[in-house]
Amino acid sequence: MTTAAQDVPPVDDEVWERLRALAVDAMEHAYAPYSRFRVGAAALVDDGRLVSGCNVENAGYGVTLCAECGLVSDLVRTGGGRLVAFACVDGRGEACSPCGRCRQVLSEHAAPGMLLSMPGGTMTIDEVLPGRFTDGDLAAVPGAATAATGPAS
Ligand code: THU
Repeated sequence: MTTAAQDVPPVDDEVWERLRALAVDAMEHAYAPYSRFRVGAAALVDDGRLVSGCNVENAGYGVTLCAECGLVSDLVRTGGGRLVAFACVDGRGEACSPCGRCRQVLSEHAAPGMLLSMPGGTMTIDEVLPGRFTDGDLAAVPGAATAATGPAS
């Protein structure tokens, strides 16, 4: 039987290079007039799609959208799926570390063993966010709504 997992393209050097190039392209579209710190993010989805996003700042600094938020919006808007590999770059095109909040945002949509290109090398989602809070934590509490059950009526 063919499963979605078997269709996941291998994450080889060519994939990482495509992700980095897409992240650089996204970064070049960033709206970052307040920090002047432009960020671009790109990821491979388990069906082979590529998704991306850039940071979008705001005069109300606290409502700035990180590049990862745009990426996840792109993921959901184009059909959902699970993130297999992720790359994020700064304005120099160098690997950029996702902030803590964005690690949680990415975690919700991560394939098991999702890989992230970090400044120090490749890491898994569990390595960058150990003990992460997931839908499983919700499911452990009787009566709590989960993504599978939907909200309580
Ligand atoms: N930023 C991101 O887009 N992603 C991160 O994970 C870290 C920070 C953005 C937010 C803000 O526009 C700028 O980088 C400086 O913090």
